[in-house]
Amino acid sequence: MKLLRVLAPGRINLLGEHLDYNHGIVLPAAIDRYFEFEIQARQDPSFLIEALDFNEKWEFYWDELKDSETKGWKNYIKGVLLLMGLDSHLAQGVHIRFGSNIPIGAGLSSSAALCCGLAFGLNEFYALAKTRMELALIAQQTEHQYAGVKCGLMDQVASLFGKAGHLLAFDCISHEIAPFQLPLDGAQLFLIDSKVKHNLAESAYNQRRANLEEAWSLAQSLFPTLKNWRTLTTENALLLFEKLDTETQKQLQYVLEEIKRVAQVQALAQQLATQNTSTASLELLQQLGALLIQTHIGLRDLYEVSCLELDYLQEMLCAQNGVYGARMMGGGFGGCVLVLAHATFNLEEALPALFEAYAQQFGAVAAFYPVRISAGVQVLAS
Ligand code: GLA
Repeated sequence: MKLLRVLAPGRINLLGEHLDYNHGIVLPAAIDRYFEFEIQARQDPSFLIEALDFNEKWEFYWDELKDSETKGWKNYIKGVLLLMGLDSHLAQGVHIRFGSNIPIGAGLSSSAALCCGLAFGLNEFYALAKTRMELALIAQQTEHQYAGVKCGLMDQVASLFGKAGHLLAFDCISHEIAPFQLPLDGAQLFLIDSKVKHNLAESAYNQRRANLEEAWSLAQSLFPTLKNWRTLTTENALLLFEKLDTETQKQLQYVLEEIKRVAQVQALAQQLATQNTSTASLELLQQLGALLIQTHIGLRDLYEVSCLELDYLQEMLCAQNGVYGARMMGGGFGGCVLVLAHATFNLEEALPALFEAYAQQFGAVAAFYPVRISAGVQVLAS
């Protein structure tokens, strides 16, 4: 039987951090780091899953899956398999092999890529005819129900809908996805991985989500015609703030400010689209860089999802000549800093000293990843 091969990318997010579960628009893009899957029919109804990076195999019959004790990568496989609605297809077992070059815990959404790639592959293999959005929702539910992270939908949308050379403006209320280009010729985007991941990441994420949901219930009771955070007036925000604890006030303030920053990037992109140029003006780069820095400060001081390692790297990077701006990216408490720099910014000259200083300070070895904006999940010709 023919071998099905699927590639599922990780993602970056230019701006709109923590807005995907806060009524925002987010600006992610798929990158050229992937999970790769090979899916092949078996002779009997059993499943064999091989996680190549962990050198682990897992073999089971469908009936055993639901009650199986799982952790780590098996949670995700189990979740996707159970949520895909495979029941009428179970006479056909599969052999799935997968591996990845997306660093785990780096804020590049490796778990979303795992779930999206698997869901997409099973959808192709069993001809289930689900849409990419349905697959994204299954991948998100897997995180909620099987990994315990109440994430938004940004990572899954980026992985499934990514378009080469384009950022996506993903409206997290309407689920509309608008790919757009920013003329960044003359500049470069890259990532510096702090190589740390603090334990509280998941619980702190869920806690913030719960706080903001509570604040939203309160907002709705105070302003019954309010549709979402985007349309909250400054006057009503002040009234609401009076009723919130300090922590939630700061978190909501971050959300409201980040919503405005995303709108600014969208306005810039529109303005540039009409100018029909591929080269970024210095002004655009400076404006974008400043927005990245503001977002970092908001995530650090208001949303409080940064950490000393990320703050150190962000500050050192921003102090370099030729860097327009940098910010922590993703859920936080570790992972990567996203950097916007001039195209001629000399990485070989700048990074060794920075990495050395970072290692001395924190005992961790940072890493550099170039960013190439790539297509979303796809079948690979075998
Ligand atoms: C994680 C979540 C996403 C999103 C980001 C923060 O990556 O999985 O849904 O909330 O954090 O923007």
